[in-house]
Amino acid sequence: MTERTLMLIKPDGVKRAKVGEIIRRIENKGYQIVDIKMIRPTESLLNLHYSEHVGKPYYPSLVNYMMSGPVVVMIGEGTNVISGWRTLMGETNPTKAAPGTIRGDLGREWDGEAMMNIVHGSDSVTSAKREIGLWFD
Ligand code: TYD
Ligand code: MG
Repeated sequence: MTERTLMLIKPDGVKRAKVGEIIRRIENKGYQIVDIKMIRPTESLLNLHYSEHVGKPYYPSLVNYMMSGPVVVMIGEGTNVISGWRTLMGETNPTKAAPGTIRGDLGREWDGEAMMNIVHGSDSVTSAKREIGLWFD
């Protein structure tokens, strides 16, 4: 089924100049980027986006990381793009993410409580709708 998902290139991806590499992988896979912009997210946006993580020990560090620079925000579209984009991203911890994935090829762990893992993707149809509504008017 044709779906839409929220794709983020997090501040580490932008700072390390991986935007082109990440978009190349999305386009090579065949997904459409139907909207794109670069913004610096506010704390209130992040509290809504990451609402299920508020209160976790890593949460303050996660917010600092996500506010450390601009983020590229995209809507990706295609058949089963929600799970397909998560496959392209690789698993959450970049040390464990498989080679061939964005997190596995371009990321690593660094000292600090939050995992810096370069990209975000929605995890379900419900969260994709919610997150696209938060990041795009
Ligand atoms: P989560 O939704 O579990 O992972 P994913 O981004 O793969 O959907 O977590 C959201 C973000 O929170 C994750 O990308 C990085 C951060 N995080 C940590 O820093 N430490 C943790 O132990 C977890 C679970 C997440
Ligand atoms: Mg998640």
